[in-house]
Amino acid sequence: MSKKTVVTFGTFDVFHVGHLRLLERARSLGTHLVVGVSTDKLNFDKKGRNPVYSEVERKEIIQSLKCVDSVFNEESLEKKGDYLKQYKADILVMGDDWEGKFDIYRELCEVIYFQRTPAVSTTEVIEKIRL
Ligand code: CTP
Repeated sequence: MSKKTVVTFGTFDVFHVGHLRLLERARSLGTHLVVGVSTDKLNFDKKGRNPVYSEVERKEIIQSLKCVDSVFNEESLEKKGDYLKQYKADILVMGDDWEGKFDIYRELCEVIYFQRTPAVSTTEVIEKIRL
């Protein structure tokens, strides 16, 4: 099979089964899965809070997964097109919380939105632990 690169992006803080399922499904579409992990600064700008785990720790966890071939720092949301070109993406995968938002990249690669795993998110896990 010729090389087929799938790229996805996310914070992946407090790693949970919703993250795992998305990454495994993404990898099953191609031969290589490349994951852009949001930097701490980007996460703060996006979600208004610092992640529980630092970008170094989050990348280490993601890189250790069987379904992941390589990881890089996603420093800016605006650079998605540059990253897709740099990593020669054939497919961009995102969860359907982003449905439609990345259709502009269809000129660079295929864009696929996966249904999120219901009833789990980093925000909910943090709130559950706080209670
Ligand atoms: N994701 C998923 N199913 C979930 C949670 C996340 O498929 N239950 C996917 C998202 O759609 C995204 C990727 O995992 O493509 C990374 O999501 P991220 O924002 O890091 O995780 P969340 O749990 O959604 O975090 P938060 O609660 O902080 O928004």
